[in-house]
Amino acid sequence: MEAITARHRHRELSEIIEDHRYRYYVLDEPVVADAEYDLLEKELIAIEAEFPELITANSPTQKVGSDIKTDFAKVQHQTRMLSLDNVFSIEEFLDWTERVKKDLGYEPAWLCELKIDGLAINLTFENGKLIRAATRGDGHTGEDVTNNVKSIQGIPDRLEQDKKWNWPKLIEVRGEVFFPTVEFAELNASLVENEKAPFANPRTAAAGSLRQKDPRVTASRPLRMKVHGIGSHNGLEFSSQSDAYGALHSWGLPTSREFKVLDSVQAVVDFIEFHGKHRHDLEHDIDGIVIKVDDLSAQVQLAETARAPRWAIAFKYPPEEVNTKLLDIRVGVGRTGRITPYAEMKPVKVAGSVVSSATLHNQEEVIRKGVLIGDTIVLRKAGDVIPEILGPVVAMRDGSERPFVMPTNCPSCGSAVESAKAGDIDVRCPNSQFCKDQIIERIIFIGSRAGLDIDSLGEKTARALVQDGIIKDESELFDLVGDDLMKSAAFTKQAKVTKEEEPRLELHKNAEKMLEGIEKAKTAALWRLLNSLSIRHVGPVAAQALAAEFKSLEAIRAASADELRALEGVGPEISVALKQWFEIDWHVQIVDRWQKAGVKFVEQPKQNQLPQTLAGLTIVITGSIEGHTRDGAKEAVTDRGGKAGSSVSKTTDFVVIGENAGSKAAKAEEFKRPILDAAGFEVLLQQGPEAAAAIAR
Ligand code: IVH
Repeated sequence: MEAITARHRHRELSEIIEDHRYRYYVLDEPVVADAEYDLLEKELIAIEAEFPELITANSPTQKVGSDIKTDFAKVQHQTRMLSLDNVFSIEEFLDWTERVKKDLGYEPAWLCELKIDGLAINLTFENGKLIRAATRGDGHTGEDVTNNVKSIQGIPDRLEQDKKWNWPKLIEVRGEVFFPTVEFAELNASLVENEKAPFANPRTAAAGSLRQKDPRVTASRPLRMKVHGIGSHNGLEFSSQSDAYGALHSWGLPTSREFKVLDSVQAVVDFIEFHGKHRHDLEHDIDGIVIKVDDLSAQVQLAETARAPRWAIAFKYPPEEVNTKLLDIRVGVGRTGRITPYAEMKPVKVAGSVVSSATLHNQEEVIRKGVLIGDTIVLRKAGDVIPEILGPVVAMRDGSERPFVMPTNCPSCGSAVESAKAGDIDVRCPNSQFCKDQIIERIIFIGSRAGLDIDSLGEKTARALVQDGIIKDESELFDLVGDDLMKSAAFTKQAKVTKEEEPRLELHKNAEKMLEGIEKAKTAALWRLLNSLSIRHVGPVAAQALAAEFKSLEAIRAASADELRALEGVGPEISVALKQWFEIDWHVQIVDRWQKAGVKFVEQPKQNQLPQTLAGLTIVITGSIEGHTRDGAKEAVTDRGGKAGSSVSKTTDFVVIGENAGSKAAKAEEFKRPILDAAGFEVLLQQGPEAAAAIAR
């Protein structure tokens, strides 16, 4: 880059970065995703590395972003509050460790902890009493938010006495205030209901909730804090950061349970990778890992730059949040007629794939999230998990945005929809017999892993079967033969022929596989067949209970509503739904035709029954577990005689927490139930409950 271009780009970037910092720290209304901002900073750092003469005291690289808003009284920090430098790859991280080792002349112990996505806070305790709480501000001067902070659960007003550590006369404790992820959706819903602007993500919710003029508003929000450092601490010397955490913990301050002091860089890399996989198993968002040199004298030796310490670094995970435009909200029809709104977005790359649509579940969800068509929105995609819209970027609105209105007719068949009723928030298409999309969705479900797991019967093939008129609905599925499939281009290809032969079509390999799969499915487990009929409310748990009790579809059909209801996992709603389903002719015809085609609606004798190591135990599984599908994980429990519970209670024996676990993880903590991760779950399956109990959290 030429010097003149560099100077120009440097000025431009500095202005853009300052503007983003103002929106992020002062207004709590960022308009770009963090990752996009990080790129701008990275570019600025690179220009300054090439042209050091551009570094002035005023450059954004030499300052921490200021959050001073003027609404609050100013307070001077006793010692400066710094920011952190970032690395974005293991290579960059290794380079940093090399620099540290070189500067120190030895390899220090590394303290690793979570980088909480919240806002920094400085608590000052004098004679053990909380006298002030301030935001980071520009690092030197912050804003006095004492009254607001006093309402945060877990922050003590007074430090507890400890035998080992006496608190010093004055100590500054630094930490991060955050908004628990699970409660975030609820907050936005209540804001929207009160005609207030929703927050884009939990971090902005934390910042906005803390910096309220009225402390009662802060008090009404479920803010929490975790400690990650100390400032001034007159009259008490710690030898290491981890010692300081020990002392802070003993005084009743909320230190993190997840920090570790590690001896080798490889162990740190493992820590980074472990939490990268488990970043959603926490009560708060994290955007990376902070690695600190544990020894405090080594910290002093390494010192700091204008902006950040040299003894610490933030390893940033690949972004899972991006901003994009919500182009439209459309609706689709599901297999039970439910009309579901989904977002059509400007395609964006996030967590390794390009995303252009996301479900919005139902009309209420659209309202709860507060998103309008035309909004810039924050989209989150966590690894392999389904993409989710978090909230709108209200600051980007220009007035052209419009609310979503649920259509009054089915987008597939045009029937007038049935609107939401008491006890059912969903809008439905009543035309389940003839609505093409409903039929296609039911067939897709039959083919899916959750259904009969039929090879090559997926979205494309199910659509072709119906759209190309090969079958009218699922009743004809088991009658399919190769000749039927020859009618559709989706299942055929040009056969290789000799010159003398006429060109002709033949069945695709996948089409043959599909036919084999259909044949095999005729003897699928009874509960799977029952589940595949798409009877409303009858999911795998109910289907398994019914199959185990009644052993054949005939017996289930003949059972009285009372007999059905009495079964655990069934209940009144399901028993009514079942009875009603069998009253409808075309439903019965499906069963009849399937039976004629050879489908056996009877409990298949279990092959190779597993030892019933989990008999009498209830295990709740939440989130996705590596190596298992959702149903597969539950089946692994039931195959061993255990019960796969749906909600955590006092009587739950184990709670298995996978990736992207929801509120059940918090419930498990609340009820103090033994918690297992994916590895612990394998131990439970392979070695039984005792071995699992030994390693449970
Ligand atoms: S240490 C002198 N540790 O990240 C070192 N910061 O991007 C200062 N943060 O300003 C910070 N979790 O607000 C530290 N475990 C952690 C953290 C953490 C989150 C925040 C903090 C800091 C920002 C820098």
